[in-house]
Amino acid sequence: MEPFALERYFAKHEFSTEYLLSSSDCDGWAQSELLGLADPEARALWEDLRLGYSESLGHPLLRREIAALYKGVDPAQVLTAVPEEAILIAMNSLLERGDHVVCTFPGYRSLYSIAESLGCRVEKWRPEPEDGWRFDVDALIGLLRPDTKLIIVNFPHNPTGQTLSPADYRRVVEAARERGIWLFSDEMYRLLELDAGARLPSACELYDKAITLFGMSKSFGLAGTRVGWLVAKDKALFERMAAYKDYTTICGAAPSELLALIGLRAKETILARHMSRIRRNLALLDEFLG
Ligand SMILES: Cc1ncc(COP(=O)(O)O)c(C=O)c1O
Repeated sequence: MEPFALERYFAKHEFSTEYLLSSSDCDGWAQSELLGLADPEARALWEDLRLGYSESLGHPLLRREIAALYKGVDPAQVLTAVPEEAILIAMNSLLERGDHVVCTFPGYRSLYSIAESLGCRVEKWRPEPEDGWRFDVDALIGLLRPDTKLIIVNFPHNPTGQTLSPADYRRVVEAARERGIWLFSDEMYRLLELDAGARLPSACELYDKAITLFGMSKSFGLAGTRVGWLVAKDKALFERMAAYKDYTTICGAAPSELLALIGLRAKETILARHMSRIRRNLALLDEFLG
């Protein structure tokens, strides 16, 4: 695989530099503060936690809490994994050498690099710089071929912050559905939309051949838990992904799973704090830019 230049850059500077303007996650929560948000059940689980292996698909209460984020998703369709690991698992479970793949670009490297390293033909769906970095769905449709196996999208998009209108997003889903193409939707920045009304439905709510990726790293400011998840309604694919995880981490870190559970249950408090900070920072930026 190609070296992951961004991660190498962070490895060099992230922990020795005073001001970071390149981070993509909300400021990490203090563990003590997060634990202060725990309900009695989660608090008791935390106090009594035993540090053995955990369940390979994820803690049942965590999977239940994750499923509740979506319309029409059953906990059985949720597989927990570190977000970066989840991309590796999904790509290896879906793709073979020679497959044709279309991916939003520029973007988080693993979204296209893993497919490339597997020998897939990867084409890039690029936004229009002259048009506010808008992603044009007609351009995506123009990239599809009769043998396209997978479309990979990331909205809200890292690095442009762009998203699609709900109507355009549905066009992407319909384009995939009409052609029987799998859709991998990286939704790591979901819930951080400045206008909650512009929030897109999750791909897994709209399409049975969609795989949704989300996790605690960005919107929840809990990247250090390394908890993320995949949602897939296709049973055969789900089983392939779960089997692949036996060769990556087998199961999640038990303390992290409980911290993620607490974070999800305290979603409103956590997001309210992050949104008010984001708005304050945007106002400061506006002031600075005059
Ligand atoms: C779009 C996108 N997907 C996935 C990830 C991976 O998340 P994590 O670093 O928590 O594994 C990132 C991290 O920056 C990202 O920006």
